[in-house]
Amino acid sequence: MRGQTQTASAGGRWRGDGAAAWCWWWVAVVLLLGHLPSCARAGLLESNPGLAYNFYKNSCPSVDSIVRSVTWAQVAANPALPARLLRLHFHDCFVKGCDASILLDTAQSEKTAAPNLSVGGYEVIDAIKAQLERACPGVVSCADIVALAARDAVSYQFKASLWQVETGRRDGTVSLASNTGALPSPFAGFAGLLQSFSDRGLNLTDLVALSGAHTIGVASCSSVTPRLYQGNASSVDPLLDSAYARTLMSSCPNPSPASATVALDGGTPFRFDSGYYTRVQQRQGTLASDAALAQNAAAAQMVADLTNPIKFYAAFSMSMKKMGRVDVLTGANGQIRKQCRQVNTS
Ligand code: HEM
Repeated sequence: MRGQTQTASAGGRWRGDGAAAWCWWWVAVVLLLGHLPSCARAGLLESNPGLAYNFYKNSCPSVDSIVRSVTWAQVAANPALPARLLRLHFHDCFVKGCDASILLDTAQSEKTAAPNLSVGGYEVIDAIKAQLERACPGVVSCADIVALAARDAVSYQFKASLWQVETGRRDGTVSLASNTGALPSPFAGFAGLLQSFSDRGLNLTDLVALSGAHTIGVASCSSVTPRLYQGNASSVDPLLDSAYARTLMSSCPNPSPASATVALDGGTPFRFDSGYYTRVQQRQGTLASDAALAQNAAAAQMVADLTNPIKFYAAFSMSMKKMGRVDVLTGANGQIRKQCRQVNTS
């Protein structure tokens, strides 16, 4: 499925669902706004590390329109990109914070590490950066571009943003493959996943809400086959629905070609919807880490709640904002890279 092309109007799906998507989006926004005062009381919004909405209002007023137009044009040509750009942002934030360290092309950099070998979307960031450097040289950080592109790639489905992005991040100068151990393993159990999130200041709600990103995109078969061919190669992970296991086996034989992939959400792999949670409930989560969410009572209750698309969009929005704040560099820290793949030399 990776690399497969599909136009935005294929089967009339995007077009046909447009009105419904708009409706859901507006309902979600209303719900989200309704949640904001209580979140502020809970201290969530007080922990802002120095980011702001419209950080570039005066220094680069065209930032939003440039990021959106480049991202939407690329997503229109390649429907795999929303998943790639969303995952790129996650893998950036979880390793040394949201500082664009994943983009650096140095020897032994983060992108050379095993968990990042299937990460993509770098060329979209390059294209956005090139346009921004023409419009406002040396102003917009690569870390902010990664965060904005993730939002806009997903927003292509709705033609409106599902979450707001604070900006003002600055770029890091260090990128080491050895730091990628901070990324959660797809084979982790519930406790390991929660630990990985809490190490970054994220909680159980964030874990369950952000796992909903697996409503789109694909996994390499190597991330799934250990569940399908356990031990003597004949037993299947008991947490996996047996009919779904057979479906996965047909996409991922033993052994599978290195390039083989399988949809993370076998129901609607290109739609950013709450179907992921229904599938987790039905023991059809593709990764062991997806299945793990049903193994803890509190998480399973949240999974049940988030089958409601309105609740999912609201929860995802809140948690994306939190993830976008993880260990950010602001103020005089870091730098604004001229090119996203290399640190400034002068
Ligand atoms: C909860 C812990 C998580 C684990 C263990 C995990 C693990 C994985 C793995 C193993 C893959 C497939 C990679 C491959 O085999 O090629 C994947 C794909 C993906 N992940 Fe996660 N992930 C987690 C959380 C997240 C979060 C928080 C986000 C974003 C907010 C995210 C977004 C994605 C997306 C969109 C894809 C599909 C990428 C594509 O199609 O190119 N994941 N994840």
